[in-house]
Amino acid sequence: MAVSRQSLSFICSGLLLALLGAFTRADEAMCLDCHDPDSEPAMHAIANTVHGSLDGGGAATCVACHGPSTDHQDDPEEVAPGVSFGPKWTSSAEARSASCQSCHSGNDQMLWVGSAHQQDNLSCDACHNPHQQQLLAGREQAADAVCLECHTQVRSQLHLPSRHPIAEGKTSCTDCHNPHGGLGHADLRQVSLNDNCFTCHQDKRGPFLWEHPPAAEDCALCHQPHGSVNEPLLNARGPALCQQCHAAAFHPSQPYSSESLGGSANQNMLGKNCLNCHSQIHGSNHPSGARLTR
Ligand code: HEC
Ligand code: HEC
Ligand code: HEC
Ligand code: HEC
Ligand code: HEC
Ligand code: HEC
Ligand code: HEC
Ligand code: HEC
Ligand code: HEC
Ligand code: HEC
Repeated sequence: MAVSRQSLSFICSGLLLALLGAFTRADEAMCLDCHDPDSEPAMHAIANTVHGSLDGGGAATCVACHGPSTDHQDDPEEVAPGVSFGPKWTSSAEARSASCQSCHSGNDQMLWVGSAHQQDNLSCDACHNPHQQQLLAGREQAADAVCLECHTQVRSQLHLPSRHPIAEGKTSCTDCHNPHGGLGHADLRQVSLNDNCFTCHQDKRGPFLWEHPPAAEDCALCHQPHGSVNEPLLNARGPALCQQCHAAAFHPSQPYSSESLGGSANQNMLGKNCLNCHSQIHGSNHPSGARLTR
C-alpha cells in the first residue's frame, strides 16, 4: 500500500512538473510570436521601460502583468488573456489593479483601497500605460495634464485671477494629493488640511501668542486651494470675508451691516477694510498683538 501511494505521488508530481514546463516554454515562445514589435502599441517597447525585464524578460515579463494566458494562446480570437486592460476584453477594475498591486502595494500605493479613485472604479491603467516609458508615470507637468483630462472643474479654477501656480509649474497636483489615496480627506497627503499648507507655508504654522482661531483650525475657512476670483485665493472679498463670522460683533464690523449703515455708525470705519488695522490675520507673536493689529 505504502509503496504504491509513494509511486503514485511520484508520478503525479512528475506529470505536474512536465505540464508546468510545457506551459512555461509555451509562454516564452508564444506571446511574442504573435504580439510582435510591429503591433500597436509596439509590445517590445516595454523592453525599454523599467518593466523591461520583469521575471527575467521575454514572455515571462508579459505574464507578470497579463497573467498566465495559455487558453488565450490556444484560441486568441475567442479567449482573453489572464488579465486584459482592453480594448477587446477588459478585466474588472479590481483585477487590473490587483495585477499591478502584486508588486506595488507599499509606499505611495499603500492606501489605494479606499481611495476616491478606487471607490469610483478607476484602476491603475487610467493614468499609467506601461508599454511606453513616457506614459508610464506622467510626472510633474505631464502628471497634471493627466489629472485635468477628468477634473475639468479644477482646470477652470487654474485660470482664475488668483491661483496656486499649478499651470505655471511651481506646484503640482501631486504635491498636495496622492492619486493613489491619501491620509486626509480629498486624498490629501497629510492628515489635516492645515498640515498640507504648512509643508510650504511654514510661517503660518503656530502656535502664536495671539491666535486667530479659524486660521489654526482650517485654512479653507478663508482660502480656496486651487483658484479664486478674490486675491489672494480668498473665499470672499474684504470685510465680507470677516463678516461671515464677525457680522454680529459690535465695533467696526457694524458699519458694514445693513442695520447700522443709516445712523450711529462711526464714519471713520466706513469703507475701511478690516485688514487695514487687523493686519496679522493668521496670528501674532507681538507682545501687544491682541486683536491681531500688529
Ligand atoms: C497565437 C497568437 C497569440 C499568442 C500566442 C498570444 N496572443 Fe495575445 N492576442 C492575439 C490576438 C490575435 C489578439 C487580438 C484579439 C482580437 O482583437 O480579436 C490578442 C490580444 C491580446 C491582448 C489584448 C486583449 C484586449 O482586450 O484587447 C493581450 C493583452 C494579449 N493578447 C496578451 C497576450 C499574452 C500576455 C500572451 C502570452 C502569454 C499572448 N497574448 C499570446 C494573439 C496571440
Ligand atoms: C507592467 C505591466 C505590463 C507588462 C509587463 C506588459 N503589459 Fe501589456 N498592457 C499593460 C497595460 C496596463 C495595458 C493597457 C495599456 C493602455 O492603457 O493602453 C496593456 C496593453 C496590452 C495590449 C493591448 C494593446 C492594445 O491597445 O490593443 C496587448 C496586446 C499587450 N498589452 C500585450 C503585452 C505583451 C505581449 C507583453 C510582453 C511583451 C506585455 N503586454 C507586457 C500592462 C503590461
Ligand atoms: C512583477 C512586478 C511588477 C508588476 C506586476 C508591475 N510592476 Fe511596476 N515596477 C516594478 C519594478 C521592479 C519597478 C522599478 C523599480 C521601482 O521603481 O520600484 C516598477 C516601476 C514602476 C513605476 C515607476 C516608473 C518610473 O519611471 O519610476 C510605475 C509608474 C509602475 N511601475 C507602474 C506599474 C503599473 C501601472 C503596473 C500594472 C499595470 C505595474 N507597475 C506592474 C515591478 C512591477
Ligand atoms: C489618477 C491617476 C493615477 C492612478 C489611478 C494611479 N496612479 Fe500611479 N501615479 C500617478 C502619478 C501622477 C504618479 C507620479 C507621482 C508623483 O509625481 O508624485 C504616479 C506614480 C506611480 C508610481 C511611481 C512610484 C511612486 O510611488 O511615486 C507607481 C509605482 C505607481 N504610480 C503605481 C500605481 C498603481 C499600482 C496604481 C493602481 C493601484 C496606480 N499607480 C494608479 C497617477 C496615478
Ligand atoms: C480617468 C479620470 C480621472 C483621472 C485621470 C483623475 N481623476 Fe481624480 N477622480 C476621478 C473620479 C471619477 C473621482 C471621484 C468622483 C469625484 O470626487 O469627483 C476622482 C476623485 C479625485 C479626488 C477626490 C475628490 C474628493 O472629493 O474626495 C482627488 C483629490 C482627485 N481625484 C485628484 C486627482 C489627481 C491629482 C489626478 C492626477 C494625478 C486625478 N485625480 C486624475 C477621475 C479621475
Ligand atoms: C496647494 C495644494 C493643492 C494643489 C496643488 C491641488 N489641490 Fe486639489 N485640493 C486641495 C485641497 C486642500 C482640497 C480640499 C478643499 C476643501 O476641503 O475645502 C482639494 C480638493 C480637490 C478636489 C475635490 C473637489 C474640490 O474641488 O474640492 C479635487 C477633485 C482636486 N482637489 C483635484 C486637484 C487637481 C486635479 C489638481 C491639479 C490640477 C489639484 N487638485 C491641485 C489642495 C490642492
Ligand atoms: C507644494 C507647496 C504648496 C502647498 C502645499 C501650498 N502652497 Fe500655497 N503657494 C505655493 C506657492 C509656490 C505659491 C506662490 C508663491 C509666490 O508666487 O510667491 C503659493 C501661494 C499661496 C497664496 C498666495 C496666492 C497669491 O495670489 O498671492 C495663498 C493664499 C496660499 N498659497 C495658500 C495656501 C493654502 C491655504 C494651502 C493649503 C491648502 C497652500 N497654500 C498649500 C505653494 C504651496
Ligand atoms: C480668517 C481668514 C483666514 C484664514 C483662516 C487663513 N487666512 Fe491666509 N489670508 C487671509 C487674508 C485676509 C489674507 C490677505 C492678507 C493681506 O492681504 O495682507 C491672507 C493671505 C495669505 C497668504 C498670502 C500672503 C502671505 O501672508 O503670505 C498665504 C500664503 C496664506 N494666507 C496662507 C494661509 C494658511 C496656510 C492658512 C491656514 C494656516 C491661512 N492662510 C488661513 C485670511 C485667512
Ligand atoms: C470662520 C470664522 C471667522 C472668520 C472668517 C474670521 N474670524 Fe476673526 N475670529 C473668529 C473667532 C472664532 C475668533 C475668536 C473669538 C473669541 O475669542 O471670542 C476671532 C477673533 C478675531 C479677533 C480678535 C482677536 C483677539 O485677540 O481677541 C479679530 C481682531 C478678528 N477675529 C478679526 C478678523 C478679521 C479682520 C477677519 C477677516 C479677515 C476675520 N476675523 C475672519 C472667527 C473668524
Ligand atoms: C480703523 C481700524 C480698524 C478697522 C478698520 C477694524 N478694526 Fe477691529 N478693532 C480695532 C481696534 C483698535 C480694536 C481693539 C478695540 C479694543 O481693544 O477695545 C478692534 C477690535 C476688534 C475685535 C475684537 C473685539 C473684542 O471682542 O474685543 C474684532 C473681532 C474686530 N475688531 C473685528 C473687526 C472686523 C471684522 C473689521 C472689519 C469689518 C474690523 N475689525 C475693522 C480697529 C479696527
